[in-house]
Amino acid sequence: MAELSQVNAPIYEALRKFRRMRVVPFDVPGHKRGRGNMELTEFLGEDCMNVDVNSMKPLDNLCHPVSVIKDAEMLAAEAFGAAHAFFMVGGTTSAVQSMIMYACKEGDKIIMPRNVHRSAINAIILTGAVPVYVNPDVNHKLGIALGMSVAQVEQAILDNPDAKAIMVNNPTYYGICSDLKKITELAHAHGMLVLVDEAHGTHFYFGENFPVTAMAAGADCASVSMHKSGGSLTQSSFLLMGKNINSDYMRQVINLTQTTSASYLLLSSLDISRKRLALGGREIFAQTVEMAEYARSEINEIGGYYAYSRELINGDSIYDFDVSKLSIYTLPIGLAGIEVYDLLRDEYDIQIEFGDIGNVLAYISVGDRKRDIERLISALAEIKRRFGKSEANMLTQEYISPVVAETPRKAFYSTKRSLPLDETAGEVCSEFVMCYPPGIPILAPGELITPEIIEYIKYAKEKGCQMTGTEDLSIERLNVLDI
Ligand SMILES: Cc1ncc(COP(=O)(O)O)c(C=O)c1O
Repeated sequence: MAELSQVNAPIYEALRKFRRMRVVPFDVPGHKRGRGNMELTEFLGEDCMNVDVNSMKPLDNLCHPVSVIKDAEMLAAEAFGAAHAFFMVGGTTSAVQSMIMYACKEGDKIIMPRNVHRSAINAIILTGAVPVYVNPDVNHKLGIALGMSVAQVEQAILDNPDAKAIMVNNPTYYGICSDLKKITELAHAHGMLVLVDEAHGTHFYFGENFPVTAMAAGADCASVSMHKSGGSLTQSSFLLMGKNINSDYMRQVINLTQTTSASYLLLSSLDISRKRLALGGREIFAQTVEMAEYARSEINEIGGYYAYSRELINGDSIYDFDVSKLSIYTLPIGLAGIEVYDLLRDEYDIQIEFGDIGNVLAYISVGDRKRDIERLISALAEIKRRFGKSEANMLTQEYISPVVAETPRKAFYSTKRSLPLDETAGEVCSEFVMCYPPGIPILAPGELITPEIIEYIKYAKEKGCQMTGTEDLSIERLNVLDI
C-alpha cells in the first residue's frame, strides 16, 4: 500500500492488465467477453464486454478482498477521510441496509427522521428493529420536510436511552442539512451510533464550502452514492466507516445480502471516479456550483418559480444547504412540480431528476454544458408563459406526519387484506406507498391511513406522480392489516 496514492486505481489497473493477457475464459459470465452475445456486444461495445468478468485471483473478490480491491478500499477510505470504505454494487440501498443491520438486531431501537428513503425502512423490516421517528420540521410554504432539530433529537434520545443508533440524512434530496456535528456529539454522549445517509452528499467530501461531511462530523457510518454526484456507474456506492466501527464484522453484515458476483464494471467505475474526485474534485464541484448558482438566479428572475438556497438556513432544522442542488418551488405558477417535470420532458425533451407536489429538482453536474443550462432556463420560462395558471386549488402539503400503529416488520409480515383506496381510512397500512423519486414513503408498513393521506395519494396520482410500493400496481387498492 505504501507505494500507492490517489493517482492509482488498483481495480482499474488490474483489469487493464488482465485484458492485455488475453486469458481464455472457461468461467462465467457465459457471454465470453461478448462473443456469445453479439447483439449485446454491439450495443454496449467490446471494451465494456471485455471487462465484464468474474472475480479471480488477479482481480480479487469483493466478498473477501485481499489484494487489488483491498488496496482500492484503502485509497477510497483515505480520499473520504474514513477509517475504512466498502465498495458497494447494490446501490446506496445496500449501503443503508448494511449500516442499519450492523447497528440493530431484532427489537433494537433506532432514532431516525421519518423522511428517510425507503431503503432505511426496508432495513427496519429486515432486521426487526424498532424505529423511533423524529418528525422533521416542515417548511409550510414550500411543503417540504427539513432536517431534524437538535432539540427534537435530544428529546428522542432522552425518551429512548436504550436506542442503539441515530440515522441522519446529509443532505435531504432537496439539499437540506441538519446540525450533524451536534447530533453526533449528542448521540455519542449517550452511547448511540450515528449512521448517515449521504446518498446526495458525495461532493461534500471533495468540493469547497459544502456542508460538513459525516466523516468530518465524527459519524460512525455513511452511505455515499458515488453514482449520483460522484460520476460512477449507476448502482455503485461507497459505505464509509468511522474509527469505532469493526469493519471486519461490517463485511460479514454486507455479505449477508451482497451478490457473490460483483460487477467489475461497477467496481472499476468506483475506483476511477474516486481517483478523479480525489485529484480534481475541488475544481469539478466549483464548476457545478457555479452552474447551479447561475441557473438559480436566472430562474428566480423569471418570476413565479422559487429556486431556493442558503437564505432558508435557520441555524437548526435547516442548519446548512447544499448549493449544488437546484430545487425549485413551482406552485406560484399554478403547476405542481410533477406537472413541470412532465412538461419539461414531453414538450422540451428535458429530463430532470424529480418533480413532486410542489417542487422540482434539476440535477446539476460537471457533465452539464452551459447551453443545456440555458435551455432549461428558457424552457421553464416558456412553461410559465404557455401553461401557467392560478395558484388556487393547488395542494401544498408535501409531508404528512405519520401515526405509527405497528412496527414495519410486524405490519409487513402480518395477515392482510386488500381494500379499495377510498375504504382504507382508519385502517393500518401493511405496505409502502411513495412517489419515486424521491422514494420517501407517504405510508410505510404499520402506519395509520387517514383521509388526509388518501386525498394526498389521489392528488399525486392525478397530477402524474410515479407512485410505487404497493402490491396493486395501479394503486387503486391498498393492503391493510387484517385485525
Ligand atoms: C436519500 C436516499 N438514500 C438512499 C437511496 C438509495 O440509493 P440507490 O438508488 O443507489 O439504491 C436514495 C436513492 O435515491 C436516496 O435518495
